Amino acid sequence: MPSVFAEARPVEFIQRPGGQQLSPRDELARGLLQPQPSIAPKFLYDALGSRLFEAITELDEYYPTRTELALLEAHLPALAAAIGAEARVVEPGSGAGVKTRMLLTALERPVGYVPIDISHEQLELNARALREEFPGLEVQPICADYTSRLELPHSTRTAARTVAFFPGSTIGNFEPDEARAFLARLGRLVGDGGMLLLGADANNDRASLERAYDDGLGVTAAFDKNVLAHVNHTHDATFDLDAFTHRAVWDASHHRVEMHLVSMRAQRVRIGATVVGFERGEVIVTEHCYKHPREAMAAMLTAAGWRTLRVDADPRGRMHLWLATRSA
Ligand code: AVJ
Repeated sequence: MPSVFAEARPVEFIQRPGGQQLSPRDELARGLLQPQPSIAPKFLYDALGSRLFEAITELDEYYPTRTELALLEAHLPALAAAIGAEARVVEPGSGAGVKTRMLLTALERPVGYVPIDISHEQLELNARALREEFPGLEVQPICADYTSRLELPHSTRTAARTVAFFPGSTIGNFEPDEARAFLARLGRLVGDGGMLLLGADANNDRASLERAYDDGLGVTAAFDKNVLAHVNHTHDATFDLDAFTHRAVWDASHHRVEMHLVSMRAQRVRIGATVVGFERGEVIVTEHCYKHPREAMAAMLTAAGWRTLRVDADPRGRMHLWLATRSA
């Protein structure tokens, strides 16, 4: 039986600008040994992490998902008309697929769907369900870190155009330079006539942001701490989950929320062959969530080679849906 997973290259290694290829374990050790220790956000998404994120999207405090769903609900007919019939959709970080279904339903006779996700379990569930729900659709999942170099799998169908779908404000997880470079790479991936449908959060209200990333029920705290459990299981580390606590901080000057795991005592943690020491109060950064103001996002799209066709915002001007086309 052929594998349901189209081949992605590379899967096991990441490419750092100017650096050599690192294994995930080496990448983790290197991040933890920096002056500001960090764990890359992609390590948050093992099977449990993906489920905890789904739970986050249902919290009262976490407004981005619900706000973006309302925007899609309102504007998808117009967006689908602008995209046109027989499009192929590529989705980096496809997750649970709720928004995907909305887009595929709104589009006229979509021919293909290429989800790219680091969570094997999510991809498999999602691909299976979509094949059943959209019988005419060619579904070609790629199990990969979408920040690695990607190629689209060969398709048996001719698409009128390829559309990259990148909702959820996930663009905010990249450092600004990397975000611009990633958007430019998406442009090359979709090729001539290609489009981008991007959802991005521009909220700058500290109180609502810090609640959204540190909810009363503690789901975000569990999501954040689960990264340590994941790294322990998968990458031979010895983090004590009880010795770290979750915190969310809005950094207004950088327009970003930072997710922190604060070391509650002086401690040593082993990861593979590397031992890392933490002082009491020392922080591991697990995520930067940039909330680029609308003008900054517009400029970033232009710099990445995109021409904006429309922008739809919610009444409070937090979430924006951007539809852009390659300017070249
Ligand atoms: C999935 C990356 C968009 O940044 O809001 C939610 C992840 N982290 N709560 C975000 C997340 C903490 C989320 N993204």
